[in-house]
Amino acid sequence: MASDIVIPSEWEAVLRALRDRGSGMVYVVGAADRGKTTFCRWLTGRLANVALAGFLDCDIGQSTLGPPATVGLALYKDSVDCPRATFLRFVGAVTPSGHMVQELVGALRLKERAREEGASFLVVDSPGWVVEPAAQEFHVRMIDLLQPDLVVGFERGPELEGILVNFRRHPRIQIIECAAPPQVVERKRDWRRLYRFQRFSEYFANAVPHARFLSGLGVHGRMPESFREDSWRDLLIALCDAEMMVVALGLVDRLDLVSGTLAFRAPPHDAHRVATVHVGSIQVDLSNPPGRVAQQSPHRAARQSTLPDEADPALPAPVSPASGVRGGRGRSVPDQYG
Ligand SMILES: Nc1ncnc2c1ncn2[C@@H]1O[C@H](COP(=O)(O)OP(=O)(O)OP(=O)(O)O)[C@@H](O)[C@H]1O
Ligand SMILES: [Mg+2]
Repeated sequence: MASDIVIPSEWEAVLRALRDRGSGMVYVVGAADRGKTTFCRWLTGRLANVALAGFLDCDIGQSTLGPPATVGLALYKDSVDCPRATFLRFVGAVTPSGHMVQELVGALRLKERAREEGASFLVVDSPGWVVEPAAQEFHVRMIDLLQPDLVVGFERGPELEGILVNFRRHPRIQIIECAAPPQVVERKRDWRRLYRFQRFSEYFANAVPHARFLSGLGVHGRMPESFREDSWRDLLIALCDAEMMVVALGLVDRLDLVSGTLAFRAPPHDAHRVATVHVGSIQVDLSNPPGRVAQQSPHRAARQSTLPDEADPALPAPVSPASGVRGGRGRSVPDQYG
């Protein structure tokens, strides 16, 4: 943790409350750029000095554990430099809207895994998508499902009331509200896109071609409506084990219906562990960094033109609709928090 992080007194109060309990789970909620992740990492580090502590990263857009489109768990003891163990669940998109079930289930399974691994503490970071009614419902259900001991809201004014009010009379959940530290650095939408692109690029840096017969494997998720090559190319998939933990993510090269083979690029992994293939909702074109004008096939350009991409009034229109990560089929949503 960088030494220039300012630690407000409320942070110490949360740490004390958890230490005094000897174990516990905290769910951190707040809009984009409120200092959530900085707090979560600080708190996890401090708790790891006491006992095995988990960091559950549910921010699938601005992921800090694992690549975007995944929920990640890391377990730490003594220091947060190197986790004792990490686990990933695949959501398949970079915003929970339209993928709430996948995210809720992934978060719950990782909470259970943290418990099975003996973690005394669990710190949950959450997406900064909090304003719309659907976003509020998402957080209400996350809290309802995960049943944390503490909910820490990072806010400027009463912006989280629509979420927090639902738990004010809860018999076991304590709510602590923290003012967002003035030191928080705001990130623009372009920065967030580039961050995601870089996280994917890093993840796939050592990817090599693979081919798998699909026979005998579970294949589920958001199947493209068409078998056209263009609908499958660069589609983000997860190769998962029998308990649906991610073994590796992949980017589809081609689906060969005749031989029943899926060709994809993925980092080296233990192929024997793979039991299911979870098809995601986004295509990730690593040859096309955000802001670059892409050479597109007519098919691909047509599909992209259907993708809503929320305009940021503060920014000029994007140079290309294809900025590395593209929303997929069905109801693709504006990336409102980045
Ligand atoms: N307490 C703090 N002291 C100093 N700098 C801070 C503090 N909190 C946050 N920052 C700065 O602000 C940046 C953004 O904070 P952070 O990533 O924690 O916010 P967030 O709410 O998680 O944002 P996001 O919406 O991207 O998830 C940090 O990288 C850090 O540089
Ligand atoms: Mg964050």
